[in-house]
Amino acid sequence: MTIGIIGSGAMGAGLAQVVATAGHTVRLLDQNAEALQRAGAGIQSSLNKLAEKGKITADAAAETFGRLRLTQDVGTFNDCELVLEAIVEDLSVKQQLFREVEMLVPDTCILASNTSSLSIASIAAACKKPERFIGIHFFNPAPVMQLVEVIPAVQTRAGLAEEVRDLVHSWGKRPVLAKDTPGFIVNRVARPFYGEAIRILEEGLADMATIDWALTELGGFRMGPFALMDFIGHDVNYRVTESVFASFFYDPRFKPSFTQKRLFEAGYYGRKSGRGFYSYAADAIQPEP
Ligand code: NAI
Repeated sequence: MTIGIIGSGAMGAGLAQVVATAGHTVRLLDQNAEALQRAGAGIQSSLNKLAEKGKITADAAAETFGRLRLTQDVGTFNDCELVLEAIVEDLSVKQQLFREVEMLVPDTCILASNTSSLSIASIAAACKKPERFIGIHFFNPAPVMQLVEVIPAVQTRAGLAEEVRDLVHSWGKRPVLAKDTPGFIVNRVARPFYGEAIRILEEGLADMATIDWALTELGGFRMGPFALMDFIGHDVNYRVTESVFASFFYDPRFKPSFTQKRLFEAGYYGRKSGRGFYSYAADAIQPEP
């Protein structure tokens, strides 16, 4: 199968690695040449590390990388059987992209979005054939995280969700079918997880390192809410919170916080920018609980 991935950031690069590892021919596209080169180097380094650890052979790493083509030309998507988009979380930008992509790909090509929070129906609505549109939502980092939400829109043709679920399963993932509601399953549960943690911080009940420590050491979570928000990126995470809040008709349960909004406005996106709730500068001393 030939799969086109659009957006080569944190998610797109991971998705390209997952599908290339599964044996598919992959075209990875980004409008930003630097992002594309960074993604290619990142995937190569990730495959090499797996080979060094003995998890895959050096030949398998080379073959997997050989199945990947980096491109800035969407015209190369003309033989894709699935296009999976992981660009900026903005409805009109995603809609515009699919209007263009749909003109180039075969009629049978499945179109999918990795959106965290936008309605699948609203992206599908931009397409001439919305019945072939579906949400396939991975978690970060995609090569590691098992869970994938498969989200049919009201327009999606009968049977496509099950086909996509089986396909995702064949990639070694654990897909679940989710309804096209704001945040789907995990991001809906996650909003109060982040929101309450920030409220506890704002009310001065505990500092962020203590909250993260309590949830990881005592609560069994792999990452605490502040470390996780910094990992995801406040540009992405804040936008998702705004979108889920608006999509639930401004239900106060999902209200975003000014604390996170200010980090977002300042460009303190977390790990990717070197500073978020915590500092990731090489010489930074992390607060201890
Ligand atoms: P990112 O900011 O790391 O990467 C986005 C990439 O898309 C950038 O390289 C950018 O140059 C490119 N791009 C933007 N507009 C484009 C266009 N019109 N055509 C081609 N390339 C374009 O973002 P990230 O974190 O990878 O998120 C991407 C999508 O995945 C978003 O919809 C986000 O909500 C979703 N997502 C993010 C997760 C996360 O933890 N970061 C987890 C699951 C889903």
